[in-house]
Amino acid sequence: MREKIQSYLEEIKSVAFDKMDDLESFRVKYIGKKGLIPALFADFKTVAAEERKEMGVLLNDLKNAVIDKVEEAKEILEGMNEHLESGRDLSLPVNRDLGTRHPLSLVRNQIIEIFSRIGFTVEEGPEIEDDWHNFTALNFPEEHPARDMQDTFFIEKSPDIALRTHTSSVQVRVMENNKPPIRSIFPGRVFRNEAISARAHCIFHQVEGLYIDENVSFVDLKQTLMYFAKEMFGENTGIRLRPSYFPFTEPSAEMDISCHICGGKGCNICKYSGWVEILGCGMVDPNVLENAGIDSEKYTGFAFGMGIERITMLKYQIKDLRLFFENDIRFLRQFESAI
Ligand code: PHE
Repeated sequence: MREKIQSYLEEIKSVAFDKMDDLESFRVKYIGKKGLIPALFADFKTVAAEERKEMGVLLNDLKNAVIDKVEEAKEILEGMNEHLESGRDLSLPVNRDLGTRHPLSLVRNQIIEIFSRIGFTVEEGPEIEDDWHNFTALNFPEEHPARDMQDTFFIEKSPDIALRTHTSSVQVRVMENNKPPIRSIFPGRVFRNEAISARAHCIFHQVEGLYIDENVSFVDLKQTLMYFAKEMFGENTGIRLRPSYFPFTEPSAEMDISCHICGGKGCNICKYSGWVEILGCGMVDPNVLENAGIDSEKYTGFAFGMGIERITMLKYQIKDLRLFFENDIRFLRQFESAI
């Protein structure tokens, strides 16, 4: 009996139907009144007592396998009939009008890939943030203009809950929840109360980077960012760090890359300077480390933050940021080959 069950099961698994009649004969063959399975149930009497329990389970499973198969095949065949009745020609080639990845997703994935090659993991944080993670822990003074209603979309006042204005908030969360060494990037959406134009939007995307360990220096920051720039924009790309200010890094810098459109000679993309700005960065301020519970005597680190829209615009020479949010298929189609 065991062998019979086995061989029936194999047939049930492999059989396929293209006509309802075939399916019906299959059903009758197995579970019709005089079918194979009722016959096995009749033989059940002859099974030795110690094997009964096991055989009973096998038989029931077999019966269920037939019932499932019949139902499944019926659904498929009915679906096919519907198509035929609707006059659709199933022999036509499939219409391969597939969607494409959004350019921002393409570039985000590429950024993740480049940093993962040098040991950065990916973390995410919430888009709705409290004042501590978005501002206070990041060393923003109480009266800093970025906290102002003009820049931040507040959800609740006192305690302040807002849409995060940058992915730097994730730095604080990751440091609070992990012990160094920390080497991660955090991609995500950010929100600022800005008028929408070709160069600004109230929703955009950033990728933040954070590296905390003993003896991390500005040299590590520079080498990491140089590697990124060359991987993203090409081997001949140069970088330039200009001193800048962020409350949460000291020293701070903005990084430019040599204009890959004109090769540094000067064009309208780089406003004839030969350089284009792509990110902000610096050494994590000791106050920020302490705020997040990390010993600033023992550990140092660097952080950087870049706008994905900006990188994408430079990479693909897109002149108007609004295109990213309009979902115009004529725009999106241009990235088909970039996947
Ligand atoms: N958070 C900054 C911004 O949004 C960028 C930044 C991140 C600067 C990390 C320094 C370090 O402009």
